[in-house]
Amino acid sequence: MVSGSTAIVTGGGRGIGRAICRALAAEGTNVVIADIDAEEMAETAELVEAEGVRAHTIQTDLRSFEDVESTVDEALAEFETIEILVNNAGIAGPTAECESVDPDDWDQTLAVNLRGPFYMCRQVLPAMKEQSYGRIVNIASVTGKRPLTQRLPYATTKMGLIGFTRTLSAEVGKHDINVNAICPGSVDGPRIKRVFEAKAEASGRTYEAVRGDAEAESPRNELVQKEDIAGVVAFLCSEDANRITGQDINVSAGKVMY
Ligand SMILES: NC(=O)c1ccc[n+]([C@@H]2O[C@H](COP(=O)([O-])OP(=O)(O)OC[C@H]3O[C@@H](n4cnc5c(N)ncnc54)[C@H](O)[C@@H]3O)[C@@H](O)[C@H]2O)c1
Repeated sequence: MVSGSTAIVTGGGRGIGRAICRALAAEGTNVVIADIDAEEMAETAELVEAEGVRAHTIQTDLRSFEDVESTVDEALAEFETIEILVNNAGIAGPTAECESVDPDDWDQTLAVNLRGPFYMCRQVLPAMKEQSYGRIVNIASVTGKRPLTQRLPYATTKMGLIGFTRTLSAEVGKHDINVNAICPGSVDGPRIKRVFEAKAEASGRTYEAVRGDAEAESPRNELVQKEDIAGVVAFLCSEDANRITGQDINVSAGKVMY
C-alpha cells in the first residue's frame, strides 16, 4: 500500500475492526472508520491518529443503502480517493437449529454480513476503477469453509462472502483491483465469549467445555488473536501481495487447512 492511501474499515469501532484500523494506520494509511456504534469509533480514531495519520468516523448502518451511499460520498469528499476497503463488520446471528431460526433473524444476518459488503463494494468500485487501483479485503470466517451447526444464517453468509470475493475479483482484476477474503478461526475476545456462551446454553454444556473444544481444534491448541487478522489485512494491501487476488486465506491457528 502506498503511504498516504485511504482505507474504509467497516465495523472499525471495536474488536478485529479496530485492530485492522490500527495496523493500516501504522503503515501510513488514513482510515475512515464506519460503524453503527458511534461511541466505540471515537476510541479507535484516537488510536489511529496516534500513528500520525488522519482518522474520520462515520456512523452508518450497512443494512441501509442510503447510509452506505452517503458514507462513501463523505469518505471521498474528505479524502478524495479510497484505495482500500475492508468489509469487516459482521454479526453472529442466531444460535438455533434451522426450524427454530426466526425469519427476521435470518434476514438481519444476511443484511449485515452479505448485503453490507455488496453495498460497500458497489459504491466504492467506481472510484477504484477511475484510479485503476484498489484493494478490497472481506472478513469471512472458517465457517465460510465448513459447516457450523446451529449457526445456519451466519455460515450461509460467510460461505456467500467467499463466492462474492471470487466472483468480484474475476470482474475487477483488470483494473488492478484485488479482492481477497480472510477466514479467521475463533478470535479471542468478548465476541467469541458470547458465541461460546450461547453455544453452551443451546447444547447444555459449560462455557469452559465449549471453549476447550475450540482450542483443541487447532494444532497449536489455541485461539487466534485479532492482531493476527490485522497483520494479514495489512499484508494483502501491501505491494508484496500485488498478485494475490480471489483468495480466501485462513488465519485459524491451523484449525482449517483448505
Ligand atoms: N471474533 C471471531 O472469533 C471471528 C471469527 C471469524 C470471523 N469473524 C468475523 O470478523 C468480523 C469482526 O468480528 P468481531 O469479532 O470483531 O465482531 P464485533 O462484534 O466485536 O465487531 C463488529 C463491529 O461491526 C459493527 N456493526 C455491526 N452491525 C453493523 C451495521 N449494521 N452497520 C455498521 N456496523 C455494524 C459493530 O458495531 C462492531 O463495531 C465479523 O465479520 C465476524 O463475522 C470473527
